[in-house]
Amino acid sequence: MKVDLMLKLALVASCASGLFAFDVGELAKRSDQGFKPAVVKDWQAPDEKTIPNNLFGDYVRYGKALVQETYKYIGPEVADKKMRYAGNNLACNSCHLDAGTKKYSAGFMGVFANFPQYRPRENAIGTIEERINGCMARSMNGKPLPENGKEMKAMVAYMYWLAQGVPIGAKVEGSSLTKVDRKMIMSRAADPIAGEKVYKEMCASCHGDNGQGVKREGKAMGYEFPPLWGKDTYNTGAGMFRLIKAADWIVANMPLGATSDAKILSDAQAYDVAAYINNYDKERPIKANKDKDFPDLKVKAADSDIGPYDDNKTRLQHKVGPYQGIIIPAKKAE
Ligand code: HEC
Ligand code: HEC
Repeated sequence: MKVDLMLKLALVASCASGLFAFDVGELAKRSDQGFKPAVVKDWQAPDEKTIPNNLFGDYVRYGKALVQETYKYIGPEVADKKMRYAGNNLACNSCHLDAGTKKYSAGFMGVFANFPQYRPRENAIGTIEERINGCMARSMNGKPLPENGKEMKAMVAYMYWLAQGVPIGAKVEGSSLTKVDRKMIMSRAADPIAGEKVYKEMCASCHGDNGQGVKREGKAMGYEFPPLWGKDTYNTGAGMFRLIKAADWIVANMPLGATSDAKILSDAQAYDVAAYINNYDKERPIKANKDKDFPDLKVKAADSDIGPYDDNKTRLQHKVGPYQGIIIPAKKAE
């Protein structure tokens, strides 16, 4: 009830001033497919032994290898210069854990059945190939894979195989991310100083004091523990650079071993440490033309740290919160 009233006040406030912040309800409307999505519970990854020994199976296996050891095939250190599509030595698997089968790590279980879809970042209908290339350009700080090339076909084949039995448009439980407490993000800014303490205690043992990670010996071998900032990681256009997205991912996945059912960090710790690793005093590759993302400000991600905005909040508030007055929640509680 109290929340409901707060939402109404927020709506009134933003409409009265003619301002539109990120509107959750509007995004839901634009994402509507016109049919009721099936819900898939208890999704289990299919057994790899069932991948057939034929050309199709070869693509599925290559797709999985590309996801798990991206640096080995299309990373910046591979011998064949033409194959250097990724700009860093991460793997898709650095974030899409267990080759995209871990729940609430932005897994791939629901992906094949959910494209094409409305994409607010482009304000357009996007395909699965474009979505993969979104992560290539941002999370992998690289360039797009040719859409008809073997690597793209293989990754799509792997996602298709993973989604076997998932109805078109279905919401698969465990896909996407969990959510840190939305009341907390509305009411307080994330605190990078508190986040530094979390980092030192819970993260630095693997990711290093300077976020540099631990690289394996040899060329194109990737990282044992991937870097969180510095030159060889995701750029400022990546989802992981956005505070809410990063906190939602971190809380169910880090320190390594955490799951949505067995979290290690509190929501507050995840929020603060996400602000710390993405703070402006940390160097990382810059994504050009970020101001062109989210051309329709009504559905611009609240935690996008580059304007223009259609609200009267500062860049810093978009970057670290609080998000009151920036996010217009859906009328029904999320
Ligand atoms: C630095 C972390 C990171 C890396 C590395 C990364 N991604 Fe992503 N990816 C994300 C995040 C964060 C999202 C958004 C998840 C969300 O909003 O639910 C995402 C979303 C996606 C989606 C859409 C998922 C969905 O549920 O709709 C696909 C497909 C995808 N990534 C593919 C890839 C591929 C393929 C690679 C490797 C070439 C890759 N990603 C590398 C972080 C990463
Ligand atoms: C026990 C080692 C370990 C600890 C501790 C740990 N991580 Fe990780 N982290 C990993 C590994 C390993 C991966 C990549 C997953 C893979 O390769 O399977 C990863 C991936 C990541 C990524 C995405 C990839 C990237 O390079 O950006 C982020 C963000 C991250 N960790 C943040 C954190 C934070 C924040 C903490 C502390 C709360 C933390 N990690 C603690 C091992 C660890």
